[in-house]
Amino acid sequence: MRFTAAVLASLGGLALAQTQITVSVGSLLQEIDGFGISQAFTRAREFEESDPEPRQKGLDYLFNTETGAGLTIIRNRIGSTTTDAILPRSPGSPTATPQYVWDGSDSSQVWLSKEARKYGVTTIYADAWSAPAFMKTNNNEANGGYLCGVTGRTCASGDWRQTFANMLTQYVKYYAEAGVPVTHLGFLNEPDYVVSYSSMQSDGNQAASFIPTLYNTLQAANFTNVSIACCDSIGWGGTRTFTNQLVSAGMERYMGIMTSHAYNGDPDAPPLSTRLKSWQTEACDLNSRWCATWYSNGGPCEGLTWANKIHRGIVNANLSAYIYWQGFEVNQFQASSYLVASDGRVVTPSGRLWAFAMWSRFVRPGARRVSSSGSVSGVGYGAFKNLDNSVAVVFTNTGSGAQNVRIAFTGYTASNAQAFWSTTWTDFDRYNHDDHIYHYSNINYSDIDTDTTGSMRRGRLRAVWWRGLVWM
Ligand SMILES: *[C@@H]1O[C@H](CO)[C@@H](O)[C@H](O)[C@H]1NC(C)=O
Ligand SMILES: *[C@@H]1O[C@H](CO)[C@@H](O)[C@H](O)[C@H]1NC(C)=O
Ligand SMILES: *[C@@H]1O[C@H](CO)[C@@H](O)[C@H](O)[C@H]1NC(C)=O
Ligand SMILES: *[C@@H]1O[C@H](CO)[C@@H](O)[C@H](O)[C@H]1NC(C)=O
Repeated sequence: MRFTAAVLASLGGLALAQTQITVSVGSLLQEIDGFGISQAFTRAREFEESDPEPRQKGLDYLFNTETGAGLTIIRNRIGSTTTDAILPRSPGSPTATPQYVWDGSDSSQVWLSKEARKYGVTTIYADAWSAPAFMKTNNNEANGGYLCGVTGRTCASGDWRQTFANMLTQYVKYYAEAGVPVTHLGFLNEPDYVVSYSSMQSDGNQAASFIPTLYNTLQAANFTNVSIACCDSIGWGGTRTFTNQLVSAGMERYMGIMTSHAYNGDPDAPPLSTRLKSWQTEACDLNSRWCATWYSNGGPCEGLTWANKIHRGIVNANLSAYIYWQGFEVNQFQASSYLVASDGRVVTPSGRLWAFAMWSRFVRPGARRVSSSGSVSGVGYGAFKNLDNSVAVVFTNTGSGAQNVRIAFTGYTASNAQAFWSTTWTDFDRYNHDDHIYHYSNINYSDIDTDTTGSMRRGRLRAVWWRGLVWM
């Protein structure tokens, strides 16, 4: 503990018992890559084609760190249909010269990636839901089927693995030329779930019979900086199986991240057994009409529900990234599978967006989660050291009452602190318009009795709460 006493914030004269947690800033855990969304399946185009004012509001809600969630990852879909694939037609055989088609827009995903880049977003995850039909056992880019040539799956037309790897690499090349380099590349989406739109089946061993080909193709094209992702399984349980197969098959040396969706099991303890990073790449509420609620009864569309899911994913499941399905949609009020709604004119953020904000605004790409000890009743928390040497502690209070905690550090001396807390999700939103309503406190640490052996004299602390008090 580097400082001995400080009681600087109080609200409404409440006197509460104080719990202490200790954050070990020198004890580094996983690196955080960020938080994000997709605008796949024409949603980027709707976004681009919105009127300038709602479009700008939508972008700000998603990517602005002061007025929005400050998201830092885009997940783009690599098309596989005859109208959106860069290789829409079969060249005739796997070794024939492919005729690529590139319209420079990629269903407006290039536009979205460039707009996000203006806010500092540099992490672009490009993911194929399927290979084109002619490369597959079912000759269809939908309804499952396998990539011809993977373990146990052959086709009369030949082995298309290298052609698929070439196509994916060409896609990466087009994005590099457009000025929005792809950083992560996946070739499967829910390979353990067959649907009537773009889908392709695989298990971990079949993925392992393709990954080295993709790796070598990227290397040969000088895309040594692109991380291969696998396998976007439908849920955490399936991802565990994929991970074990991939690790056994020696794939860690070719891959960058293990990826999971959360439809059939949320990421939670224990972490996957791999030395690679783990990302949750697609989750959403598929059952509710549009709802903007922060908290009502713990329902699947509510903000606090997602704050908890993100908390468990990052803290219990060792995730480095958490991605909601869609970001911005227009006139889709039958669904809550996205974060920001537009009716074409009025733009409305959801409680889910603010759940992402309380993480993504404060825990920035390159941050390391750090160890901590001590618990607060009914409150989850995670502590992070950002690249700018600020330390952020994110608290999620699931109880109905205010909580009070003192934060102590080892390996760190805070010179000043900011606490952000919110008793209802709308406070987060109102903060953007009216500082007086938002409970904001800038805590001055300069007169705190600090131990001068602290390794960082000029650090900053940010604590984020939902429903609570923070005493430091
Ligand atoms: C990765 O390398 C490629 C090829 O050298 C380059 O075009 C691209 O900008 C790099 N990506 C990043 C994120 O720097
Ligand atoms: C890869 O980079 C090397 C060294 O800069 C260069 O000689 C080679 O032509 C590049 N290969 C491709 C496919 O761009
Ligand atoms: C957490 O993930 C990192 C990779 O980001 C890995 O090195 C580490 O072993 C994982 N920790 C646990 C407890 O699984
Ligand atoms: C913090 O407190 C010190 C000592 O009381 C004072 O000199 C300094 O101006 C304060 N800083 C801010 C930003 O209020």
